[in-house]
Amino acid sequence: MSSPISQSAKDWDKRYSEAESVWSLEPNQFVAAELFELPVGKMVDIAGGEGRNALAFANLGWKVENVEFSAVALEKFKARAKAAGLSQLCSSNLSDAQSAKFAFQPSLVLIAYLQIPFAELEKTLDNALSQMPHGTLFGVFHARRNLREGFGGPQSIEVLPSVEQLCDWAERKGLDALIEERFREVKTPAGVRQAIDLTLKVSR
Ligand SMILES: C[S@@+](CC[C@H](N)C(=O)[O-])C[C@H]1O[C@@H](n2cnc3c(N)ncnc32)[C@H](O)[C@@H]1O
Repeated sequence: MSSPISQSAKDWDKRYSEAESVWSLEPNQFVAAELFELPVGKMVDIAGGEGRNALAFANLGWKVENVEFSAVALEKFKARAKAAGLSQLCSSNLSDAQSAKFAFQPSLVLIAYLQIPFAELEKTLDNALSQMPHGTLFGVFHARRNLREGFGGPQSIEVLPSVEQLCDWAERKGLDALIEERFREVKTPAGVRQAIDLTLKVSR
């Protein structure tokens, strides 16, 4: 169940139907820097969209599952996997992030730019950790501070996590988590602008 602040699966289907690529084809820079050196294993990309990150892992030999509630995004992901000869390593799971049951036990769970209210994000994080007894959970989000001080991203404060919210969640769960604000350059017609992201890394 999504709150009214969240965009519905129908909203996302419409958005994905309107453009060939809504997001870049390249993986996120923090994902590449932090995770590509991990030993190859099984990963779940929660809210993976068109699959830019999952496909990059499959390209490295990982078995990947894209958990998405947009059927249109998953069709694009499947087509891209096929075109790249990666279908054997790629699976799709049409589910809500908060309650999805993964097809396998991953050693890595990624959540990139899932823009939902924090109570829903907490459920998503809890659901992921309950299915990954050992491994790495990595999240990258538009930071709350981005709304006033950074470029782009959602303009609704409710779907922008703060450092404090993530720290509080990790403390309540007894997790050793690294939570950092990160700066990302965005090229625009008016020049290079700076977006403020938030990364979360839990290894256990
Ligand atoms: C900003 S996009 C990010 C896509 C991808 N992670 C990336 O970085 O390219 C957010 C994605 O979250 C998905 N999404 C939003 N709410 C969701 C939910 N409750 N369950 C599953 N997917 C959700 C949307 O369909 C969309 O693909």
